[in-house]
Amino acid sequence: MMLEIRGLNAGYAGRPILGNVSMRVDAGEVVTVIGHNGAGKSTLLKSVFNLVPWREGAIELEGRDLLPLSPDRILAAGIAYIPQNRSVFPRLTIDENLRMGGYLLSSAKRLAERIDAVRQLFPMLAQRATQLAGTLSGGEQRMLELARALLMDPKLLMLDEPSIGLAPKMVDAVFNAVRLLRDQGKAVLMVEQNVNKALACSDRGYVMELGEILLEDQAQRLIGDRRVAQLYMGRR
Ligand SMILES: Nc1ncnc2c1ncn2[C@@H]1O[C@H](COP(=O)(O)OP(=O)(O)OP(=O)(O)O)[C@@H](O)[C@H]1O
Ligand SMILES: [Mg+2]
Repeated sequence: MMLEIRGLNAGYAGRPILGNVSMRVDAGEVVTVIGHNGAGKSTLLKSVFNLVPWREGAIELEGRDLLPLSPDRILAAGIAYIPQNRSVFPRLTIDENLRMGGYLLSSAKRLAERIDAVRQLFPMLAQRATQLAGTLSGGEQRMLELARALLMDPKLLMLDEPSIGLAPKMVDAVFNAVRLLRDQGKAVLMVEQNVNKALACSDRGYVMELGEILLEDQAQRLIGDRRVAQLYMGRR
């Protein structure tokens, strides 16, 4: 198992949000979490990356306990996290942004190798290496974030609403990028409100409401589930 969460309770100062959440992501799997605004989806991803004030329960990456690790150790252990809010450095170039993703790499040679590898996945980034990231379109910035997240060659990527705010063509490009990641053998845990398109490129999905897991199933079955259709599809 790539990521395993058992009995997770987590939240903010004096305010519990997640209640007894258990879920897993297997190696090479794309898993999507859906749920209404405020359900706790972002809090779930932040909890894995040790970005919420309190957590109890178990979070393991390939059997390794993540609870005592700081976010940079979690990154080094093999998880990349792209938060819901845009995170490129607008006044840095594409290339400088990519290098930031590799700040934990100790050797210049390794950094150059990784930059080469992500440029092959996203050729646009090589062609426009010196363009300021702030001048990219929203979709292009998302691609840059994905590329930067891949710099450390993570085993698992956590993506919080990767398609939010994008034009339909770029939404498809983002989900195609997720498929590409899976083809590269990466595991992906994503939160999405673009339910149909996200489930269409996922293996399994979870439905979260009020901080708890309500449903878990194969993505194909969730797409056909009447409750899911009524509650979540057609929104946005
Ligand atoms: N830093 C914080 N401090 C206190 N409460 C927070 C904080 N961040 C989120 N919350 C609260 O936690 C609850 C869950 O928020 P969260 O962002 O995890 O939901 P979400 O499912 O990601 O929603 P959305 O679909 O709108 O992104 C909300 O009630 C929110 O107000
Ligand atoms: Mg959120």
